Amino acid sequence: MDQDQNTPGYEKLLQLWPEYTSTVALDELRKREYARLDRLGEVYLDYTGAGLYSERQIQAHHALLEGHLFGNPHSHNPSSQRMTDLVERTRASILSYFNASPDEYVAIFTQNASGALKLVGESYPFSPEASYLLTFDNHNSVNGIREFARAHGAGIHYVPMQLPEMTLDEGQMEASLSPARAGNHLFAYPAQSNFSGVQHSLAWIERAQALGWDVLLDAAAYVPTNRLDLSVHKPEFVTLSFYKMFGYPTGIGCLLARRSVLGKLRRPWFAGGTITVASVQGDRYFMAEGAAAFEDGTVDFLNIPGIEIGLDHMQRADVDLIHTRCACLTGWMIEELGSLHHANGSPAVRIYGPGGRGMRGGTITMNFYDPAGRVVDHHRVEEEAARHRISLRSGCFCNPGGGELALSISKTEIIGCFNQPWVQETSRFTPDDFRLCVDGKGTGAVRVSFGIASNFDDAARFAAFARRFIE
Ligand SMILES: Cc1ncc(COP(=O)(O)O)c(C=O)c1O
Repeated sequence: MDQDQNTPGYEKLLQLWPEYTSTVALDELRKREYARLDRLGEVYLDYTGAGLYSERQIQAHHALLEGHLFGNPHSHNPSSQRMTDLVERTRASILSYFNASPDEYVAIFTQNASGALKLVGESYPFSPEASYLLTFDNHNSVNGIREFARAHGAGIHYVPMQLPEMTLDEGQMEASLSPARAGNHLFAYPAQSNFSGVQHSLAWIERAQALGWDVLLDAAAYVPTNRLDLSVHKPEFVTLSFYKMFGYPTGIGCLLARRSVLGKLRRPWFAGGTITVASVQGDRYFMAEGAAAFEDGTVDFLNIPGIEIGLDHMQRADVDLIHTRCACLTGWMIEELGSLHHANGSPAVRIYGPGGRGMRGGTITMNFYDPAGRVVDHHRVEEEAARHRISLRSGCFCNPGGGELALSISKTEIIGCFNQPWVQETSRFTPDDFRLCVDGKGTGAVRVSFGIASNFDDAARFAAFARRFIE
């Protein structure tokens, strides 16, 4: 009998989410390839932080390295050629996994999603005629692109979100996307929020493109549990980190870029590998074509084949099954946490973002409250969870727009904090300073997230932990 079937509450899960039974293959996968989870008795609920690798992935990668001689790619010696072939095969496997035609897209290896975002930011032709539009709900590595836009005099505009679901307001979006003037205009948004788990419609891609925008889709939090089909939706840029999808290897991300926009990107420098010819005396350089122009120096060649192994693992596990399972666990958890009340009737937990059947993924962000309605410090919750061997996240998850909105911290309050004389003088401001400045309001939240190896027992153990906060 499966561990889940013995866990109290399982019947209710099946009543509410009968489709959970269609995902039992993932229990087999967990037993076979993630045995360490149950052996160690730990509850892992930080899949939005990092996915978990299967033991088979590690063995396959190890066997590959042990069985071959690999050298630095791009030479003509046998060890180099072997490596070049594997790097190129991995590139092709990425395009194929996302159903992206090689005639339409290139896969550029980066260090992580942030590296991919920085590549777009530093190369996009921002100018005083250009603009950068982005949603409040974004990871800091997308927010950071605004500094490239600002440095080149481009207009910067944020689209707000609406509470309580933390979704985009259609009217505001339409108004912000109003037909772009001549020039270059970049719109960036996450397919799934790493703060609230909300999934923003992929239909905005086509809508924005029709109005003259280039679209950057940050898919880092989306692709671990959702299928992204680039033959259906075709943003100019897609960014992601592979460790978030399948845990291993770390240190490799990807920028999927439409070939049609590569021509307008301008690298601010050149490096080994990015040029065809560079001259010292001639003081000129000629950029390479395609992905090579964006990969500085030697790529992480020994780890890159681990990506093909990981993608193969995702295919075998079936991302649609992972999606269904995470949706069921998320729906159950939202209902369960929402039912937690103190003896005086006040709610013990507040969840940010859509309800269980809304447009959302398996990331649930919340705060705990005492019976008087005061927020329980998120650090304390994380520390107590650690004592119960539960791995979760607390803070703002590098998504300040999501945090400011969810925690009702206004622009006036924030500017008031930043404008204090000592901050002006020192140009220093720490999270503790922020907490003191907006005293009485939380400055962070608690996040749990599901993924490839999650089961009902994980969800139930967190719900039991949450009940400890009831007074
Ligand atoms: C939505 C989103 N975008 C970008 C990133 C940045 O990823 P990385 O830290 O791997 O560069 C993250 C990481 O949490 C994320 O969740």
